[in-house]
Amino acid sequence: MRTDLERIRQSALAELDRCEDEAALEQARLRYLGKKGELTAVLRGMRDVPPEERPAMGELVNTVKAEVEQRLEAIRQRLADARLAKSLSEDRLDVTLPGSAFPRGRVHPLTQVQAEIVAIFREMGFSVATGPEIEDDYHNFEALNIPHDHPARDMHDTFFVAGDRVLRTHTSPVQIRVMESSRPPLRVIAPGVVYRQDDDVTHSPMFLQIEGFLVDEVVTFGDLKGVLSAFLRRFFGSGTRVRFRPSFFPFTEPSAEIDIGCVICGGSGSAAGGASCRICKGSGWLEILGSGMIDPNVFRFVGYDPEAVSGFAFGMGVERLTMLKHGIADIRLFYESDLKFLRQF
Ligand code: DAH
Repeated sequence: MRTDLERIRQSALAELDRCEDEAALEQARLRYLGKKGELTAVLRGMRDVPPEERPAMGELVNTVKAEVEQRLEAIRQRLADARLAKSLSEDRLDVTLPGSAFPRGRVHPLTQVQAEIVAIFREMGFSVATGPEIEDDYHNFEALNIPHDHPARDMHDTFFVAGDRVLRTHTSPVQIRVMESSRPPLRVIAPGVVYRQDDDVTHSPMFLQIEGFLVDEVVTFGDLKGVLSAFLRRFFGSGTRVRFRPSFFPFTEPSAEIDIGCVICGGSGSAAGGASCRICKGSGWLEILGSGMIDPNVFRFVGYDPEAVSGFAFGMGVERLTMLKHGIADIRLFYESDLKFLRQF
């Protein structure tokens, strides 16, 4: 048995020394130290050794086993070191490669345009106010000089909630709320969501408006023209032509609708091939804003003396301004959350 052990020791160590990779090393380990390995077999043979020789033999087997295990471990370490050194010298890491981008969200085009409009008015000294989206009849209509039987109510395509509550059909009620709770001089801009039963390529049942108004001791139509012309030229470009047309709103007297020269056809009214411009429908003008001098009746509703104060008001649709600024033909694109569309802004 002693000679067996010596033979196993020598051939195991020699075989381990010959191993050139970790797979060969594992083979060698199994051959000697595995369950069916040669050294394991010797250990198992201990029961045939006469009892008086067992301690000495046991010690010898254990020494051989330990020696083989140590050599195995040393070679395993050497092979692992070699593998690491090889990969460090051969595998190249290009630290100048661009990283993988983390997609960033962005501000919705309507929010961008709304912020831009608000910023222009803030520069002119306007402050921002908001009001409730569920309004009462009084603030949405009555105090804006639109009585129950007034035909102007028909134009509003109102969503009724319950009792005298409606989803506000415009941001004009914010005028009433601000004037009820504060005194002139006032310069206020009121952006917000409004609702109407309307749905096609240029109308959405929910859309954004921006209301504005200015009240002081003496305010003239010239002030209205100056402020709104300045705004439109800031927003659409300094060369923008602006036109004021007489109109009617119950809450302003006189009222004006404001047009700008068509941003698509440049005011010519015609498109390529002799067709008429599809945006301004050949007129060369685009309707942009409703406006007017605040009606004395509105001042009376909020407890102001119409003999002591005057003011102007205006309202505009954010979707329409955004569509014109960016040449978008279908309003529904704003609400579909299509990333291909939104990523362009
Ligand atoms: N409230 C009007 C609408 O939604 C827009 C408007 C027109 C507001 C004229 C005004 C104004 O303040 O003076 O159709």
